[in-house]
Amino acid sequence: MRILFVGDVVGRAGRTAVSELLPGMIRDWALDLVILNGENAAGGFGITEAIYQEFVDAGVDAVTLGNHAWDQREALVFIDRAPRLVRPANYPKGTPGRGSALVDTRNGKRALVINAIGRVFMTPFDDPFVVINDQLESCPLRSAADAIVVDFHCEASSEKQGIGHFCDGRASLVVGTHTHVPSADHQILPGGTAYMTDAGMTGDYDSIIGMQKEEPLRRFTTGIPSGRFEPALGAATLCGVAVETDDVTGLALRIAPVRSGGRLEPTLPRFWAG
Ligand code: FE2
Repeated sequence: MRILFVGDVVGRAGRTAVSELLPGMIRDWALDLVILNGENAAGGFGITEAIYQEFVDAGVDAVTLGNHAWDQREALVFIDRAPRLVRPANYPKGTPGRGSALVDTRNGKRALVINAIGRVFMTPFDDPFVVINDQLESCPLRSAADAIVVDFHCEASSEKQGIGHFCDGRASLVVGTHTHVPSADHQILPGGTAYMTDAGMTGDYDSIIGMQKEEPLRRFTTGIPSGRFEPALGAATLCGVAVETDDVTGLALRIAPVRSGGRLEPTLPRFWAG
């Protein structure tokens, strides 16, 4: 199965990159499954139903979230009629929506998409190790899902690596989101799970994690908030990770980072070229 995960889409610049670049990637690479983190898609904070629909129309099979899941409060309501929208599984009992979704892929298979949020340097919710373990045990790779992708939304690289090794051999891909900077450690772990600490954001990299530089710089230098954070508006780099899995085992055969457009040095998965 050919899987593309697209990192945190930030604001209009990020959405434009998705609508301009993603349909071509789906076609040229014959992608079977596309997952995208959309928690910063609406002006940098949260997601609206219209934006969710834009992503689905562009070919996204599942949209994951994180700590900004509810910044647009309509998400608390429309998530219940948005079957491809997945919020962190370790949010408290009673939180609207779902922490995982089993989606049909373009090659007629089924993929489980799990979203969870970290506890280190973040508002701590339920133990993500326990919650992810429950998800993996209730819908195991091979017997219940042909592929499993875990988006672990988290600040600390150590906690992300912990989840990666914890899921090794039981998931097709564990990918980190939230830091908005792509890491260079994409690899297949010893048990066969593809792993990357952070997919990077899909946004304007002439920014401070996707936001126009002025206000964050003012806050760093004076400690005084004097305005709102606004998403940077320059051309975005679409960042993510491409994985090909074995149809029999569901584990990873190949992994490559994806960077296209905007300011970052481009890189595309060579194994799908031509
Ligand atoms: Fe986040």
